[in-house]
Amino acid sequence: MLKDLDKIIKEIDLNKEAPVVEPDRQYYYIAKAKKYVSAQAEKLGRQLTFCVTTFGCQMNARDSEKLVGILEQIGYVEETDEEKADFIIYNTCTVRENANMRVYGRLGQLKRVKKENPHMMIGLCGCMMQEPEVVEKLKKSYRFVDLIFGTHNIYKFAELIVTRFESERMVIDIWKDTDKIVEDLPSERKFTFKSGVNIMFGCNNFCSYCIVPYVRGRERSRNPKDIIREIERLVADGVVEIMLLGQNVNSYGKNLETPMTFAQLLQEVEKIEGLQRIRFMTSHPKDLSDELIEVMKNSKKICKHLHLPVQSGSSRILQKMNRHYTKEQYLELVRKIKEAIPDISLTTDIIVGFPGETEEDFLETMDIVKQVRYDSAFTFIYSKRTGTPAAAMEEQIEEDVVKNRFDRLLKEVQEISAKVCSVHTGTTQEVLVESLNDHDASLVTGRLSNNILVHFPGTSELIGKIVDVKLEECKGFYYIGKMVE
Ligand code: 5AD
Ligand code: SF4
Repeated sequence: MLKDLDKIIKEIDLNKEAPVVEPDRQYYYIAKAKKYVSAQAEKLGRQLTFCVTTFGCQMNARDSEKLVGILEQIGYVEETDEEKADFIIYNTCTVRENANMRVYGRLGQLKRVKKENPHMMIGLCGCMMQEPEVVEKLKKSYRFVDLIFGTHNIYKFAELIVTRFESERMVIDIWKDTDKIVEDLPSERKFTFKSGVNIMFGCNNFCSYCIVPYVRGRERSRNPKDIIREIERLVADGVVEIMLLGQNVNSYGKNLETPMTFAQLLQEVEKIEGLQRIRFMTSHPKDLSDELIEVMKNSKKICKHLHLPVQSGSSRILQKMNRHYTKEQYLELVRKIKEAIPDISLTTDIIVGFPGETEEDFLETMDIVKQVRYDSAFTFIYSKRTGTPAAAMEEQIEEDVVKNRFDRLLKEVQEISAKVCSVHTGTTQEVLVESLNDHDASLVTGRLSNNILVHFPGTSELIGKIVDVKLEECKGFYYIGKMVE
């Protein structure tokens, strides 16, 4: 991304002290790490390899691109077979307990692999590392891990790698919070034609079930100039679609020196020539403004898709969740959005089994699903996260009751979504081609503006292009189509 970074790094004098200011300090450590990596590579007679596994959300996926960017800059090459890699990194998630269990499970297996390859390095980062109990457990029972860092200091990855190269011990660096945002570090995009762009970090909402505010810290917005500059660079590099990322994009800009709204930011982004599609994630219903609806309605680039997590249909539960809206307010918001943008696709997140949820509360959730008719919904079983207010609430719901509600909800969601998805049958729509089809190489897979997938005959030359496709047959959650010349 930063074309002159190679040159900057080559010219760094490692005999001097490391600079104090960022990103210069990290450039220095990238240069230093590069020396260690190339010395090891020479010894082994081959290049060193890495394998990054990402758990969790789009934010983590974006963070992993930054980790990969730094790793490649210091001379590692990617190895997809984890057991063969010299440096294994898990970028972890902790939003639900099962995400933590998966990491411990995989670490158990890695212990055996590392016994056979003692020079292998293992790094852990991301949200799970922000939990003190996790780090304690790793220190006690997973001594073979080399490097542990959190969500606030991933920009220091090169510096931490150098620290690990220079000591034989487990390196741990976790910050509780930060107001720092470091720009202009390398990052390696997974796709050539689309990219996530962070617009803010952290969350101030403290929904009572959610651990994110504790592990991602307070809300911080990036400067609009930096965001625009990053997108302009991406577009110059061939990107046609961007996804603006934040835990609650609708409160973007509130804490900037010169405050600005998310809708205003979108209008600035829209002006970038060559950019064709704009997506964003995630919207909190309580902060979604009429201004945003208006901007979406008039935009030529903002995709016709809104992810609007409802979490529950019961106003009583929503209050206990600290969501700051009622069922009626949410429905009114949906009505306004659909009125302004009739062909919009709405998706959501729903939690089943929140403490104290009665059968009546659950039926309210079923009812809101029937009223809104989501294109798709991510349904989750409530997971108790230590330290959140909900974890201390009485009336945690029994597993079999939750499972039964979850199954009923999933069935309803899927039935509705198959019907909602199929309404576009027969229409011709713009599709961004993303890849060759996984199962049939004569087909390509692309995405409609409303985020639905379509498979149609085509070749790899189409990847990254926006083409017109006639949607011939709906298969529930996706379409089979045909390109229109
Ligand atoms: N249990 C279950 N689901 C949760 N989510 C967040 N915290 C929890 C939890 N403790 C879900 C919410 C959120 C999505 C990203 O994860 O639905 O929108
Ligand atoms: Fe968690 Fe609520 Fe913040 Fe989303 S808005 S990250 S659910 S606290």
